[in-house]
Amino acid sequence: MEITRFLMGNGLFSSLFLLLTPLVFVVVFFFTKKYSRSAKNLPPGPPPWPIIGNLHQIGESPQVSMAIFAQQHGPLISLHLGTQLLVVASSPEAAAGILKTQDRFLSSRAIPNAYDHAYSSFYFIWSTNCGEHWKSLRTLCRNDMFSVKALQAQSRLRQEKLDQMLGFLRGKKNQVVNIGDVVFTTMFNTMSQVIFAKDFLGYGDEHGTVGGLKWKLSTLLKYVTRPNISDFYPIFRRFDLQGLRKENFKNTQEVYSFWEGMVEERRAKMKSSKMVIEEEEEKLFLDRLLENGFTNQQINICALDLFIASTDTTSSTIEWTMAELLKNKEAMSKVRQELKYNTNSNITHEFEFSKLPYLNACIKETLRLHPPAPFLIPRRAVETCEVMNYTIPQNTQIFINVWAIARDPRVWEDPLSYKPERFLGLNLDFKGQDFEYIPFGAGRRMCPGLPSGIKSVQSILASLIHEFDWVLPNDEDPSKLDMKEKFGVTLQKEKPLQLIFKDLN
Ligand code: HEM
Repeated sequence: MEITRFLMGNGLFSSLFLLLTPLVFVVVFFFTKKYSRSAKNLPPGPPPWPIIGNLHQIGESPQVSMAIFAQQHGPLISLHLGTQLLVVASSPEAAAGILKTQDRFLSSRAIPNAYDHAYSSFYFIWSTNCGEHWKSLRTLCRNDMFSVKALQAQSRLRQEKLDQMLGFLRGKKNQVVNIGDVVFTTMFNTMSQVIFAKDFLGYGDEHGTVGGLKWKLSTLLKYVTRPNISDFYPIFRRFDLQGLRKENFKNTQEVYSFWEGMVEERRAKMKSSKMVIEEEEEKLFLDRLLENGFTNQQINICALDLFIASTDTTSSTIEWTMAELLKNKEAMSKVRQELKYNTNSNITHEFEFSKLPYLNACIKETLRLHPPAPFLIPRRAVETCEVMNYTIPQNTQIFINVWAIARDPRVWEDPLSYKPERFLGLNLDFKGQDFEYIPFGAGRRMCPGLPSGIKSVQSILASLIHEFDWVLPNDEDPSKLDMKEKFGVTLQKEKPLQLIFKDLN
């Protein structure tokens, strides 16, 4: 009051008012025009603020806030994150409109700004243009890593990694075990064996020794997923204001150093014809990359992308399934019964999985309620196109909120309950045809690792449940298990699942 009177008395307020009013009008006019949805026929959405757009409304659980916006504005919404336009699909129809009808125009990705754009044509997960290099990666993976033949060839190796995990766990009786960490190590070593014929992680190292590979990887992922100003304001892209690109570059070089020597050695052997691999089964994935003329940098990027794509996704699926089964005693005892009647030895061999429909239904139900990639991996529009009669301008980022679709009562009956039975006898699969259930995505960017990921999840889960009787530490009541989620590279359990096992009677 005093200040206003002082300013008025001095005529300062009226001068300021006269000066600022047109300025405010210009700013509001500019942003109204820039963000106006109806003028551009954009999908509806919450009103954006000048400069920041809707950034302040996203929060720490974007899958939840965007599900709420969808309830208010419809299945296809648009948001402004800074100056970046984002479109989010939250119904099977909207997802099909993007992943099926307009897949050709909407299957590019935006490279996170922490990544080095100089290698944009080498990335797999982040490939921007689905060009020749991306096509050859998909073909190589399909033929030499995930085909029925390739998976059969890897089965001895998978069994070895499984036995190693079980051996480690048997020595942990009455000790608290972090299930996610143990599974992560198993998955990482399986992948490193397939590519390089080498284990990179040790089980004693679950928490990641500072300076070790696991620690370096998690630091790297932190930098990639940390909100980057340039992602929201591409105008600042050149400046790397938070230094994330520089840090990420340093971290990736350190990660590459774990295998670069092996790549060089193998390449030299191949060149000098000292290494003739007659047996197809004995070929590493690295050999395939070398035979196909991949450079060291292309191999580094491909290997890192495969490690990132395969480890957190599978380990979080296993951790969530174990948590859900502990909470749902009846489901757990049905899985046990099924395993008991269908396996005649202690070890659960991969070929028996078609005989385990209930376990498979549990995995499907987990992937419904806890999809590791709740928005899939964000897409980008290469060209302007239309979805559900709305315009999607070129360069728009696109999220498919599979988390929201899975929790929508119009799509699923009693969606929040864990009911594996819903998948029994139901002709609904995650192969990218049923848009109400797409935890692996759909269309040309759909997860190529589905066959191998599912095999690993099945065999690790079956072994964990078949071999041990798991309980919570300190006799905690499993029905009260905390199931809060944490949004990150994948949708993780906020409190890692810690378990102790008893001998099975
Ligand atoms: C439970 C396990 C897994 C889940 C739920 C999962 C899920 C996904 C999803 C949602 C996408 C994006 C799809 C899209 O944009 O439509 C994806 C992409 C990808 N996944 Fe998986 N994934 C899993 C396991 C694996 C494994 C084991 C590997 C490799 C060994 C793998 C390799 C990849 C790659 C390379 C991409 C990028 C494909 C591209 O952009 O062309 N994934 N995955």
